[in-house]
Amino acid sequence: MTSEQAKKRVEELSAQIHYHNELYYMQHRTEISDFAFDALLQELIQLEQQFPEFKTEDSPTQRVGGTITKEFRQVEHRYPMLSLGNTYSEEEIREFDQRIRKETGLHPQYVCELKFDGVAVSLVYEQGVFKTGVTRGDGVRGDDISANVKTIRTIPLRLKGQNIPDYLEVRGEIFMPIEVFESINKEKESAGEALLANPRNAASGTIKMQDSSVVARRKLECYLYSLLGEDLPVNTHAEALALIASWGFHVSQTWKVCNSIEDIMAFIHHWDKERWNLPLATDGVVIKLNEYALQEQMGFTAKTPRWAIAYKFKAESAATVLESVTYQVGRTGAVTPVANLRPVQLAGTRVKRASLHNANEIERLGLRIGDTVLVEKGGEIIPKVTGVDLSKRPAASQPFVYLQQCPECQTALIRKEGEAVHYCPNEKGCPPQIKGKMVHFIQRKAMNIDGIGEETIELFYNAGLIKSVADLYTLRFEQLTGLERFGERSAQNVLEGLEKSKQIPFEQVLFALGIRFVGNTVAEKLTEAFPRIEQLQSASREQLMAVHEIGERIADSVIEFFRDPENVALVQRLQQSGLQFHRIQKEVIVESEALQGKTFVISGTFVQFGREELKEKIERNGGKILSGVSAKLDYLVAGENMGPSKLEKATKLGVKIISERELLNLMGQS
Ligand code: IVH
Repeated sequence: MTSEQAKKRVEELSAQIHYHNELYYMQHRTEISDFAFDALLQELIQLEQQFPEFKTEDSPTQRVGGTITKEFRQVEHRYPMLSLGNTYSEEEIREFDQRIRKETGLHPQYVCELKFDGVAVSLVYEQGVFKTGVTRGDGVRGDDISANVKTIRTIPLRLKGQNIPDYLEVRGEIFMPIEVFESINKEKESAGEALLANPRNAASGTIKMQDSSVVARRKLECYLYSLLGEDLPVNTHAEALALIASWGFHVSQTWKVCNSIEDIMAFIHHWDKERWNLPLATDGVVIKLNEYALQEQMGFTAKTPRWAIAYKFKAESAATVLESVTYQVGRTGAVTPVANLRPVQLAGTRVKRASLHNANEIERLGLRIGDTVLVEKGGEIIPKVTGVDLSKRPAASQPFVYLQQCPECQTALIRKEGEAVHYCPNEKGCPPQIKGKMVHFIQRKAMNIDGIGEETIELFYNAGLIKSVADLYTLRFEQLTGLERFGERSAQNVLEGLEKSKQIPFEQVLFALGIRFVGNTVAEKLTEAFPRIEQLQSASREQLMAVHEIGERIADSVIEFFRDPENVALVQRLQQSGLQFHRIQKEVIVESEALQGKTFVISGTFVQFGREELKEKIERNGGKILSGVSAKLDYLVAGENMGPSKLEKATKLGVKIISERELLNLMGQS
């Protein structure tokens, strides 16, 4: 391909991908399959590698992330990022309106918006192209989080439409939609990892991550709510909101122009109830003067504008009686206490259960059975107990004693040092743990077995047909049809589903095994580094930790799993049943034999190639990728921000350290 052809194709591809992205993320429609879309993106990634000179700042390939930021650069805001005066009192909102009417001598218009509960961000665009995304910081200076911001698909990299000033800033709130929050927590739960506390923390934690490709997977969102710049083509805030929406930003369509304090109160009362139906957490209403000229007239105090105010919703709470505490045992043996409450109406729903998290939480609250407790609904869906009304404590109540034995198998519970959660250690004999492991095994992201669901597992287990997941693969037709209310058709489906699952790739099988802390992504990384189960099984702690993103917690958990002979036997049985325990190698297209017999470890991030592409390139030229630095290693390819421990080890062992460019030289492709 000539340079000219490449340039043309890059432009075509970018335009097409931008178009499909916009359809998908802004209009929630699609015109092509995921597969076809991926093919376009892959083609563009490849072309940009071959012809880096044609890669644009707003290329859609930026969305997949990959940049690692060790420390965020501090950036000074051109316009300080102020906060808002806030209040829980309707009376103070009335006073705010009176103050404005008195000073302006007018009955002004206001814009009411929701107060979104996320992380404030300021986005800078020059000539319509995204330049930087900066956090609020101390209001004067914030962190440059541009690499992470670029992965948020609803933030345009290039603006479309009319009247775009040469320099502009838009400000808004980055948040994690509740749906995304819950699905991440479900995944974390199934990997036995600590859960995210609430959508707000999840958003602020994510946006400060070092690896932007992780951010890309977390599906953050952003609503914009203000526009700043010189000589803006608008005179009111309402016009500004309409204008930024027309440029392609997401503006929540919940805002409203209000002409009186009564309108404002109606807006507040409406959303106090309706906010639970929104896709994100909100914690109040922001009231802003609509006319810019009047905003200017009202001016600022030291930290907050005098033309705007926030009304905060009172947390929805209700008092009710704690009738009992029951305990749930999860797949990993973690025990979660649940409060059973006298049913009470809260934020539009009838609540009879609330989470209590763990023993520390019960102790912190000083709970007793029979207490009148306060339950609250916050950013998360499940209500929580937030306090006790001691004045209502029954005279005969007794101090709370936390459960000591597993409610399912009566084994004494343990609590690991430094952990808040109690565990039932009877991993192999505790029914919910056994069943939980099986349910984890059959789920869609794991073995994806059609025909078997949670109830089927329950049925087979209770009938004594399965004691471990390996037993699934020896089930016979007659055994199944012998079960009560289990027809021939269902039995056939189960057997076919099991047969089909033998094609599920190794990374999913590894996830299905339910090794603690090995979620989908970790399983993917591990099988990449150790394409055969035998390699993974015999990997040392150091070799495991040499894998990108694998820390000691995961490494120890993997080692512990394979140290147990029963687990080894389980894997063996599954292997004999025909499950995939080797990663199917992509067909390697041979480019040359320049690296024949040489071994490589790559570390850090690279300029011309992504990590995976670089690995592929090495293999295409005859080289072999190792999972960790050892004396056997020929070359360590060092990128930006590589891990210091690898560098140190390689230096100590006298391994040659080369750059991306030197590697290309070796392949004769500089
Ligand atoms: S306007 C000068 N509008 O609340 C006023 N802020 O304490 C600039 N927030 O840091 C803010 N939703 O993170 C505004 N619709 C909204 C908002 C909003 C949430 C946050 C923002 C800001 C804080 C103000």
